[in-house]
Amino acid sequence: MHKFFNLFLFLLIFFNVSHLHPFVVINDLSPDEIWTKTEFVLSGHVGYSGYINVNQTMDANLFYIFWESLDQNPDAPVLLWLQGGPGCSSLWGLFKENGPLLIQSDGSLLTNPWTWNNNYAILYIDNPVGAGFSYSTNPKGYVTSESQMSQDLYTGLKVFFAKYTKYSANDFYVFGESYAGKYVPAIAYRIHEDGNKLNMKGFGIGDGLSDPSLQTNYFADYSYSTGLLDEQERIDIKLLEADLLLQIENQEWDNCLDNFEKITNEISELSGGINKYDIRLYQPYDSKPITNFLNLQSVKDTFGANADWEFCAKETRNGLKIDFCQSVKPLVDVLIQSGYQALFYSGQFDLIVNYMGSSNFIEQINWSGKQNWLESDRIVWKNNDEVVGYVKNYQNLYHILINKAGHMSPMNQPQNTLDMVSRFINNKPFS
Ligand SMILES: *[C@@H]1O[C@H](CO)[C@@H](O)[C@H](O)[C@H]1NC(C)=O
Ligand SMILES: *[C@@H]1O[C@H](CO)[C@@H](O)[C@H](O)[C@H]1NC(C)=O
Repeated sequence: MHKFFNLFLFLLIFFNVSHLHPFVVINDLSPDEIWTKTEFVLSGHVGYSGYINVNQTMDANLFYIFWESLDQNPDAPVLLWLQGGPGCSSLWGLFKENGPLLIQSDGSLLTNPWTWNNNYAILYIDNPVGAGFSYSTNPKGYVTSESQMSQDLYTGLKVFFAKYTKYSANDFYVFGESYAGKYVPAIAYRIHEDGNKLNMKGFGIGDGLSDPSLQTNYFADYSYSTGLLDEQERIDIKLLEADLLLQIENQEWDNCLDNFEKITNEISELSGGINKYDIRLYQPYDSKPITNFLNLQSVKDTFGANADWEFCAKETRNGLKIDFCQSVKPLVDVLIQSGYQALFYSGQFDLIVNYMGSSNFIEQINWSGKQNWLESDRIVWKNNDEVVGYVKNYQNLYHILINKAGHMSPMNQPQNTLDMVSRFINNKPFS
């Protein structure tokens, strides 16, 4: 039955695109005219990369890198990976977190035994326009809302799956980190609203900011409980949090991002310079090796990239400044009520999007399982007989605490995050 359905879908998409009535038409252009695809080999790994021009008026070009599943399973689920920021490149996730090749501090590439690519195809998209190798030649091409972001990205996904038909009928999952806590629900909702033509089964969000009004009032408590602040400092930070919440309540979006940053910068200063993404560290992450690597002409040529790469792009970030404090909770409510598999995971040592704030947000998701969620026991999660985290689950909703990880759990706990993703996708229990 499943196979026939796949065949049916394939024929539908194939015929639509190639002949009768294009499945995707943007300003009368067919996908062939607005996408490029280069096959490349990097350290023995075959991958595909290119650009999709998702908005001709704005000359908005999204860059992607796609890896087929390493196990060569033709039915392998496809995962989309989106970095946060706003404005940071998803190639960070590829080369520092969960991709098949990781960049070492000396700039060399290492095969990642725990890559999510082992059993899944992964599509990394530099999103939104302006992030990573994505670009626009029009200064108005940068998006200012989740609605514009998801419009561009949805066009990109439709073109990708219309052209790259090998996986187009497979299960699809949207994953992302940090500010992608906004992007993931926004794109998943758009896919859902349009009749789920992409066969989306669920989504996963790591240390994601989805609703600042519910997630930003725990900086003081988290920092106090880990000893980064004393009682008086905790009270001072609480006042800053109250200001921010009031600003959100009054929908004063303009300098909300600046005030958000003021709070975590203040905590970092008071505590002698902790890294707000990982309170075990006293220095920022080093983005030099990956930046040097991705800006080598030979590497750009390999990928067919024609922009300069930086980890996080200012123009893209500035475009989304007024979006920063706004919530996507209503979209999350609908997605979870609609039964999509939903994974939220939090690194134990992340301050900026910490476990407390995410728990508060998840508790308030409005769905029919809410009461049962609140009453569910959290369980201990073991991998290879070691306690590696804690799992709260009811029906399709999961919240997982990853032990000994910061904001970027797959970077700190590659083996355990792979175990988490496999159990989540295969519906296997965590105990
Ligand atoms: C291109 O972007 C502009 C500005 O955001 C928008 O009004 C228009 O609908 C977009 N066009 C397409 C085809 O997405
Ligand atoms: C929760 O969802 C229900 C059903 O969609 C809706 O009627 C209600 O207004 C929602 N409540 C809140 C607080 O969002």
